[in-house]
Amino acid sequence: MGFILDGLETESYDRKYPDRVLLRRILSYFRPQTLRMGVVSLALALTSIAGVVGPIVIARLIDLIIARPALGVFAAGAAAVVLLGGLGWVFGYVHERLGTIVVGDVVLQIRQEAFERTIGHDLSFYDEHPSGKIVSRIASDTQDFSNTVTLVSDLASQLLQVGLLAVWLSTINLRLTLLLFVMAPVAAAIALSFRAIARKVSLNAKRITADINSRIQESVSGIMVAKTFRQEGMLFSSFLDGNRQAYRVGLRRGLWINTIFPLMGIAVGAGNAMLAWSGALGLRAGALSPGDWFLFMQAVGYFWWPLMSIASFWSQFQDGLSAAERVFALIDREPRLRQTGENLPVGDVRAFGVEYRDVRFAYNDKETVLDGFSLVVRPGESLAVVGHTGAGKSSLARLAMRFYEFQGGQVLIDGTDIRSLELDAYRHRLGYVPQDPFLFSGTVLDNIRYGKPDATDEEVLFAASHLGRGDWLADLPNGLSSEAGERGSGISFGQRQLVALARILLKDPALFILDEATASVDPFTEAQIQEGLATVMEGRTAIIIAHRLSTVRHADRIIVLDRGRILEEGTHEGLLDEGGTYAQLYNTYFRHQSMEYIEQPLKE
Ligand SMILES: Nc1ncnc2c1ncn2[C@@H]1O[C@H](COP(=O)(O)OP(=O)(O)OP(=O)(O)O)[C@@H](O)[C@H]1O
Ligand SMILES: [Mg+2]
Repeated sequence: MGFILDGLETESYDRKYPDRVLLRRILSYFRPQTLRMGVVSLALALTSIAGVVGPIVIARLIDLIIARPALGVFAAGAAAVVLLGGLGWVFGYVHERLGTIVVGDVVLQIRQEAFERTIGHDLSFYDEHPSGKIVSRIASDTQDFSNTVTLVSDLASQLLQVGLLAVWLSTINLRLTLLLFVMAPVAAAIALSFRAIARKVSLNAKRITADINSRIQESVSGIMVAKTFRQEGMLFSSFLDGNRQAYRVGLRRGLWINTIFPLMGIAVGAGNAMLAWSGALGLRAGALSPGDWFLFMQAVGYFWWPLMSIASFWSQFQDGLSAAERVFALIDREPRLRQTGENLPVGDVRAFGVEYRDVRFAYNDKETVLDGFSLVVRPGESLAVVGHTGAGKSSLARLAMRFYEFQGGQVLIDGTDIRSLELDAYRHRLGYVPQDPFLFSGTVLDNIRYGKPDATDEEVLFAASHLGRGDWLADLPNGLSSEAGERGSGISFGQRQLVALARILLKDPALFILDEATASVDPFTEAQIQEGLATVMEGRTAIIIAHRLSTVRHADRIIVLDRGRILEEGTHEGLLDEGGTYAQLYNTYFRHQSMEYIEQPLKE
């Protein structure tokens, strides 16, 4: 079949667990629910029995009424049928309700575990897994998995009914029962081919929907760029293409499904006719009572549907298993950070001393970022790190933050190996402003309070107004109650940095790490940030990855980093005099930021 979307992108997930391991793992989640599962199974069996006994009672009733058409028999039979229906409903209710609770509990637990593990992972995890996939693993894969469990229990109930009915029927008339069973493979074959087609058309429909969604999402999030380059028309026509394709796929899907269902109807009709014919022959020969004939006709329905479920079952079951597998892969991902477990306490000092000793570090096996890197930062010292983009400056900061595991050497905090420290307590004393400070949606006040959740409004205000001279607060549209917006987009870039600094001031860190933004801010904001920095750095150890001359100048010491190595170190003046890489950097990056440069007369 030449489906138009055969080339659409598919997602591939690596399969790591053998089925047996996977099933055992899934079962382990149900183990705490053993009692409930027992009740569910019992209710399920009783529902099936009630469902099968109903037609049997009616069949008996037909025979009885033909033999002796008394009103009493008729009433008793009707009452029995109603009672069976009622019982069936009650058992069904118990089974459905309790079953839903069991599955819900299991999903709750798996989701909890998956999320807990996810947020516990170090940053290399987030480099490897795009956020969209993590979201879908936690949110929808757990759901798919639970659907599979429901599917299994429904199928079990249907199979039980078929089994019970088959036993009963074979005691009545073996030949007709065999005929029913001969029809089984035919039914299964039809159902399978139906399933294969339906699956293909549905899959294509799913893919095109995902494709359209991502087009819409990209258009919306990139709208500013699109407008700048006047590309709205292009966006629209690309959307239109996708939308038309979706229309065609949807139409095709509807057509196929609507063609196949009547085909199934024909097959069912043919089966019925065959059974009716054989039954009529049996009736004429006296081998079958009218009631039994009725029962056999009823049985066809009972036989067909479970067979179709089985046919479609396998692929859905596989889908559920792979969903479970994706979730387990998320849960089981080995933590890369290796703490020794000694959990040594962190000294209650004003400033940490930091030492990198012969450190080797790589994000992945493609490229080594630091190799044999050594550096000592004394307590209370402020160190500026400068260097070209990609030199490894941010990586240095990330190692001290313990965001990534390094492969060789040691990082020492006041002489203690960072791996043997109590990580939570250590991070509690760190103040880190990343290159692109992240603000949560909420007010500026909420965002500053993030540094110390139990801080009062007064404390927040105190910290904010002690950052620099507090002038920046007046520039916020609503002071501390200004909305930060999504990711902080509601306030300016410089203001975001100031909020990030105020956050740190509230925390009183013993090591301050600033990964200065490469983006420039206006001189006024820069001056405010500079004042803020002076407040934060006072008496503390600071590692400043600097992109601004003003920050570099205020540092006690400067190191120049290049491809993971320290090329030069010293003070601003000393390094300028040396006339090396720093002097070069100064001339290309920093000099135009200096007052001398700005004030010098224009040369012709
Ligand atoms: N998350 C990551 N995964 C893989 N490689 C990375 C990752 N982050 C950085 N790198 C690589 O490591 C090297 C050092 O990067 P790093 O971010 O430390 O540079 P930088 O000196 O901070 O640069 P910039 O001035 O542009 O911020 C670069 O080659 C970069 O491509
Ligand atoms: Mg960087």
